[in-house]
Amino acid sequence: MPIIAPSILAADFANLKQEVKMLNQSEADWIHVDIMDGVFVPNISFGIPVTEAINKHATKPLDVHLMIVQPEKYVDAFFKAGAKVISVHIEACPHLHRNIQQIKALGIQAGVAVNPHTPVSLLGDIIADIDLVCLMSVNPGFGGQKFIENTYSKVKEIKALIEAKSSKALIEIDGGVNTHNAPLLLKAGADVLVAGNFVFSSANPIDTIQRLKAL
Ligand code: DX5
Ligand code: ZN
Repeated sequence: MPIIAPSILAADFANLKQEVKMLNQSEADWIHVDIMDGVFVPNISFGIPVTEAINKHATKPLDVHLMIVQPEKYVDAFFKAGAKVISVHIEACPHLHRNIQQIKALGIQAGVAVNPHTPVSLLGDIIADIDLVCLMSVNPGFGGQKFIENTYSKVKEIKALIEAKSSKALIEIDGGVNTHNAPLLLKAGADVLVAGNFVFSSANPIDTIQRLKAL
């Protein structure tokens, strides 16, 4: 069964407590938390205090996706705010190995996120050290974008690399995920499905999460 990680970015921010409680009651496994700095990506979402507030009510682990430059400055703060998984972008990290060691030293899971244009082959020398690869299936910065079809072949490629390097990394897909593309993604080797608008814009988010979980 896939790990389902609804993205809180698509929630009603004026009702965050209720939205988190809904996720607690659902079959969601993780809560995906999108952090955008307006520099690495052309949008600003929210930061540490809001992550803390989400964590205060959440009974599920927070999967924090840092779409920010110099993530090493903020990893400790997001850990203290409740992150159980932290992913940094390969494109934002000239010292990626050091960034991963910093996250692992906190005793939590470390992920690497990869933009749609970035070849997954660049992960060859880090894949054995990480717990998660977050494959972006849209250009990061906004929810509600159209899924990029090239993602399927990237999933297969990263899956082969994971096996070749005896890595335990999970493959997470982030952006435009729905019940149409999710079965194909899972077939290609995906383990974790992030879904923002597909969950929160649906008439019954709990039911939508359940349908993704049952795939
Ligand atoms: C995009 C974010 C995604 C986004 C997914 O920059 O990283 O996590 O919230 O939202 P949907 O599922 O609406 O594309
Ligand atoms: Zn994300």
